[in-house]
Amino acid sequence: MCGIVGYIGNKKAKPILIDGLKKLEYRGYDSAGIAILNSGEINVVKSKGRIAVLEDKLKDISLEGTIGIGHTRWATHGEPSDINSHPHISKNGKIAVVHNGIIENYIQIKEFLLAKGYQFKSETDTEVIAHLIEYNYEGDLIKAVIKTLNELEGAYALGVLSTDNPDMFVAAKKDSPLIVGLGQNENYIASDIPAILKYTRDILILEEKEVACISSDKVEIYNLLGEKQQREVFHVDWDVSAAEKGGFEHFMIKEIFEEPAAIKATISPRIKDNEIVLDNLIITDEIINNCEKIHIIACGTAYHAGVVGKYIIEKLARIPVEVEVASEFRYRDPIINEKHFTIVISQSGETLDTLMAMREAKKKGSLTFAIVNVVGSSIAREADDVLYTWAGPEIAVASTKAYNTQLAALYLLALTFAKRKGLLDQHSYLNYLSQLQELPNMITSVLNEKKEIQKFASEHFNAKSIFYIGRGLDYALSMEGSLKLKEISYIHSEAYAGGELKHGTIALIEEGTLVVASLTQEQLFEKMIGNVREVKARGAVVLAIAQEKNADEVAKIADAVITIPNVDSVLAPIVAVTTMQLFAYYVAVMKGNEVDKPRNLAKSVTVE
Ligand code: M6R
Repeated sequence: MCGIVGYIGNKKAKPILIDGLKKLEYRGYDSAGIAILNSGEINVVKSKGRIAVLEDKLKDISLEGTIGIGHTRWATHGEPSDINSHPHISKNGKIAVVHNGIIENYIQIKEFLLAKGYQFKSETDTEVIAHLIEYNYEGDLIKAVIKTLNELEGAYALGVLSTDNPDMFVAAKKDSPLIVGLGQNENYIASDIPAILKYTRDILILEEKEVACISSDKVEIYNLLGEKQQREVFHVDWDVSAAEKGGFEHFMIKEIFEEPAAIKATISPRIKDNEIVLDNLIITDEIINNCEKIHIIACGTAYHAGVVGKYIIEKLARIPVEVEVASEFRYRDPIINEKHFTIVISQSGETLDTLMAMREAKKKGSLTFAIVNVVGSSIAREADDVLYTWAGPEIAVASTKAYNTQLAALYLLALTFAKRKGLLDQHSYLNYLSQLQELPNMITSVLNEKKEIQKFASEHFNAKSIFYIGRGLDYALSMEGSLKLKEISYIHSEAYAGGELKHGTIALIEEGTLVVASLTQEQLFEKMIGNVREVKARGAVVLAIAQEKNADEVAKIADAVITIPNVDSVLAPIVAVTTMQLFAYYVAVMKGNEVDKPRNLAKSVTVE
């Protein structure tokens, strides 16, 4: 979703803004622009399309200023166009604004401003902010921004530049991410750390409804009452290389290959002396023993991790789990009481639907527990407790290693709950722990099968439609496999429970239809063999995913088999998903698609 960068210091702002925007490309965008303050004038250059188009436009324009703001826009209000791109300028040309989020009462504000003689050039909600700041301005920019923010409803991360204030710019945040980077006689703002990591590792994380006044030598933070706020500096300890491709063709494939290390980082520090140790876990024995229901809330891939979470928590800990996409949970007045608790799952920790759903659960009195990848993100900060997935930065829009590590975190939780409820004997518990620690090696052996997966992808990348089928945890896995494929290959795909096929979907199977069948679940193996026979009998081409020990049997009926190492059925999805991620990746590459930045998608979905 939209990306924001800002700079003030003694270097030329233009290359820093462009470089920062490029680092935010992964968030998804359809236009880009910058505003630079120079000799008392704000110069705005913006254009529809990729940053390369903006760079081309900038080639012949000399912009010397050392203070500026930049933006990549993911259209919400108004089509992608030069005019609708940010920055937007106020009526008198003295104020420029970049914005991420949606202003919900922009129509009322627009009507008010129209009545005051303001005219609008764009169809965006953002333009009202620029005009309203101008309207509220009485010589103090911070005061004008605070007054304006108190009049806005909705979500925002903002950068505001003004000709009257050549030595500072203003940033603000509510429900959309924004950080401040601290340099030596220069400071930055950005939607995400990778945009400024090249220049600084010291950052300030803005809290909800905070405004920052950023000069080259100081940063002051205020709340919306105008009171000064103190903030500790957060030091980023991951390396710049973690957010770069490092020799891989795409971030997605690099991130798939990082899965063994990411899983190890998530699991290993939490197993000590044959025991899972989740420091200061807020979910006490009493809560677990009295828990009547767990709610899991998430979106997209994180939701699919939640579906696996439901199966494993119910199986191991015998606690009923309801899993729901955040955008539905939020508006259906869910029934929650103090004997329930809520797990939210999010890679970015900034997904607005998930954040809002978590707030809804909290409001209803539920304890909230977050499984999050990005340290210091809004969901991580607002949840009652957080278990970080140590996947490192995930840049590709298609989530891969984050999913595996979300599953790893859910296994740790499910086993902890089961153990504390006395439902797991020591032998089974230790067996799970030893297999958990083996997962990185198992995934490495799946990665070693990339050639076969690539070959199969090269034979089927022209498929019109691909079905994913599985039973139990394999059905949950199929949902994720199918999503991965559709988001980067643009091939229509659906996931079905194997047993459900004959209730309708099997009508779609005809000669040559590609079906990806998962047969990793021991107790459902024979049933799935039956389902594979059913689709084969109707002409389907079947790519099967099976445990090594069953590979020969599956090979008798499937057209191709990708094997995963022998593993307990409960743990199979975390290993098997890698085969599906690789398949989706190679299909998308064969189709020549922009794998890391698929059309219409954004990495961090910070609007509803
Ligand atoms: O950052 P989050 O995990 O909260 O993001 C949730 C979804 O937007 C995300 O998983 C999305 O579905 C990805 N594009 C999947 O690859």
